[in-house]
Amino acid sequence: MALIEIKQLEVRYGDKTAVSGLSFDVHGGEVYGLLGPNGAGKTSTLRTLAGLIAPAAGRVAVAGRDPQRDRGAVLRRLGMVMANTPLPEQMTGREALRYYGAFYDLPDLEGRIAFLEAELDMPFLDEEIGNYSTGMRQRVNVARAIIHEPDVLVLDEATNGLDVRSRRGVLEFVAAQRDRGAAVVYSTHVMAEAEEVCDRVGVIDGGRLVAEGTVQELLEMTGARNLELAYLELASRKRSEEVRP
Ligand SMILES: Nc1ncnc2c1ncn2[C@@H]1O[C@H](COP(=O)(O)OP(=O)(O)O)[C@@H](O)[C@H]1O
Ligand SMILES: [Mg+2]
Repeated sequence: MALIEIKQLEVRYGDKTAVSGLSFDVHGGEVYGLLGPNGAGKTSTLRTLAGLIAPAAGRVAVAGRDPQRDRGAVLRRLGMVMANTPLPEQMTGREALRYYGAFYDLPDLEGRIAFLEAELDMPFLDEEIGNYSTGMRQRVNVARAIIHEPDVLVLDEATNGLDVRSRRGVLEFVAAQRDRGAAVVYSTHVMAEAEEVCDRVGVIDGGRLVAEGTVQELLEMTGARNLELAYLELASRKRSEEVRP
């Protein structure tokens, strides 16, 4: 069974349709890239997985459960990293992680925080968050998202605004989560990142899936030498189809 299942998903805001007829699955041990320009519908899709948006039509499931009906169970399996999530500025990183960790019934929260402190290289955890750089904040955000060891992980433009070293840290982290069996959805508009970290990608535009396959398959489909060029080729093919009568 796929850990993430999306079938014919439709998301609407009032009379505006943001996502339409979107389907894809992600299995454990797999990183699925959700690629598309700003406004393509990536965030809208990912928010349905956490039960933050109810689909107007279609079905989403996390580990077989419906996030709308079974939100608690879904959130125990799911970790979500978004860009620029605000953190409590007056707390230290460790205090913040204790606060977020308390939502789950963890047998050894202090031990888990100490493990993540080493794993994500956060020697600054006892300083106030107000003094952190963007990269330090994002490491705390990643720690927050995986404090409960979720096996379904969603990263939405998680490397936005990060310097080279912090970005590298996030990419290595994603690969490590995949290797321990997690299902990961990685949304980005940066094709080079997707090319490096994703096993399979779905290209979305205007809320619809335009192409799907392994990075290698998309390169073969288009004859392009990298994913960025393949992406541009697929987008222009779609546009010329729309122009045709
Ligand atoms: N809260 C909202 N209200 C109205 N329209 C929205 C809202 N959030 C997103 N949209 C619209 O839905 C479409 C998809 O947005 P989004 O899912 O954020 O795309 P992406 O994450 O790929 O940039 C865009 O046209 C956006 O303007
Ligand atoms: Mg977005």
